Amino acid sequence: MRVIVPLQGLVQGTGGLFWGSVIPCALLYFLQLYLRTKPCHHPQPPPSHKDQDQDSTSFHRSLSSNHRHSTSSASAYVSPRANSLTAANSPYYLGLHKVAVDPYHQTHNPHGVIQLALHQNTLSLDLIQDWIHLNGSAAVLGTPLGISRIVPYQPLHGLMDLKVAVAGFMYQVLENLIFFNTSRMVLTAGATSAIEILSFCLADNGNAFLVPTPLSPGFDGVVKWRTGVEIVPVPCRSTDDFNLSITSLERTFKQAKMRGQKVRGIIINNPSNPAGKLFDRETLLDLLDFAREKNIHIISNEMFAGSSYGNEEFVSMAEIMEAEDHDRDRVHIVFGLSNELSVPGLKVGVIYSYNDNVVAASSKLARFSTVSAPTQRLLISMLSDTSFVQKFIEVNRLRLRKMYNTFVAGLKQLGIECTRSSGGFCCWADMSRLIGSYSEKGELELWDRLLNVAKINVTPGSSCHCIEPGWFRFCFATSTEKDVSVVMERIRRTVDATNGHG
Ligand SMILES: *[C@@H]1O[C@H](CO)[C@@H](O)[C@H](O)[C@H]1NC(C)=O
Ligand SMILES: *[C@@H]1O[C@H](CO)[C@@H](O)[C@H](O)[C@H]1NC(C)=O
Ligand SMILES: *[C@@H]1O[C@H](CO)[C@@H](O)[C@H](O)[C@H]1NC(C)=O
Repeated sequence: MRVIVPLQGLVQGTGGLFWGSVIPCALLYFLQLYLRTKPCHHPQPPPSHKDQDQDSTSFHRSLSSNHRHSTSSASAYVSPRANSLTAANSPYYLGLHKVAVDPYHQTHNPHGVIQLALHQNTLSLDLIQDWIHLNGSAAVLGTPLGISRIVPYQPLHGLMDLKVAVAGFMYQVLENLIFFNTSRMVLTAGATSAIEILSFCLADNGNAFLVPTPLSPGFDGVVKWRTGVEIVPVPCRSTDDFNLSITSLERTFKQAKMRGQKVRGIIINNPSNPAGKLFDRETLLDLLDFAREKNIHIISNEMFAGSSYGNEEFVSMAEIMEAEDHDRDRVHIVFGLSNELSVPGLKVGVIYSYNDNVVAASSKLARFSTVSAPTQRLLISMLSDTSFVQKFIEVNRLRLRKMYNTFVAGLKQLGIECTRSSGGFCCWADMSRLIGSYSEKGELELWDRLLNVAKINVTPGSSCHCIEPGWFRFCFATSTEKDVSVVMERIRRTVDATNGHG
């Protein structure tokens, strides 16, 4: 941890850790530089061939035993962009690894690490399981059972039947307000691909998107890894309940421009993750005005629209588009079908764009992330079963709300307040009272204690680009009521130890 935490500090930005991070990082950097540039210490000079894969002759030569036993080859080329992905891991990934090697189980491993970092929902999995048990094989193979509808090539951007079913599902989720036009839909292998494809279509390498923070960990990579498009965090603050403020958006846009960054758009997550905030109509209209004024795009990621459970109404960007005569070419929506249905492993996301060129380009790019045919067949049947879908949406919302309330009440008893969430699978907790120093360093020390002493894996705010230290994301929707009491007991011991020290 000692090495990795400071490295993290540098990766995540500024803070109290600055010098503590810079020095080891600089040392590591120079060490790597040294290793890369120092001459090879091979016993004999490298063989005289200039280019191994030049032609077939050199290929044959390299197969000779002489060459096979040579120790003098240079390391194989890996692109710098690939190498950049192997840099130090964030606490988010370190925590996931910790759970993978020592997962909690009530009876088999009661001292293991409890997973509260995965934004996943298993609260209503029983409903899905029952449905698949009854209808799964007929859904995939048809009746009479046959394979002809799943083994041939399919349209790469999704089957029309599934697009129709998605439109029906969203019609139910949005309480019969909008019927989405299937011609504007592209199906992708998960919402991650949907966001990446849109980033690719709307911006060039080196351009940027404004993204309100705190933000789910790993989101940067989704936008950036392959496209080279940067994200520019727009900080939301506890004093605003972590709602987006247009003033903050304006300021960040101006600053990015002054740095010479070309901002192509804004990506909102509605509900937001981790804070679980919904965007109200007013803010969505403000965003559209902002986008028009700056001539930029809006990607509205609504992948948990059906998983909102608060008292406020969920407002889709699509509703605003129906009602107002906005210039539509700059608006794009993402849905996360498999996340909504508690089957994230099925990986189905949806791009819904009002821009014909973007639909056309995305349809082509979808070949790299096509949903497999059996998955599509399964979902076509499941989503067409509208009474099942209705029941699922209702029951799931109730269960999410109940577990959210249980979790938040448990934390409150320990003196830990959460911001009020209305959607998604996590709560966003203020633990700043428990951190030693009010800094990223203090936050990561608490994270480390929670993970390694209390044995609960949560996500520190710094991994979510939160600018206020001491906030943590607790994903509650994979827990049972029993788990919650174990979690609270473990946190209580941490709180007591902290109070004892201080
Ligand atoms: C699911 O299976 C049940 C029991 O066989 C059947 O009654 C129902 O119609 C099926 N639903 C669908 C959508 O196929
Ligand atoms: C759906 O979108 C297509 C493609 O833009 C358009 O031609 C068509 O008129 C739309 N259909 C409806 C019902 O709006
Ligand atoms: C944040 O937004 C919600 C929903 O729009 C609203 O009810 C709440 O009052 C807002 N909070 C603040 C501090 O502005």
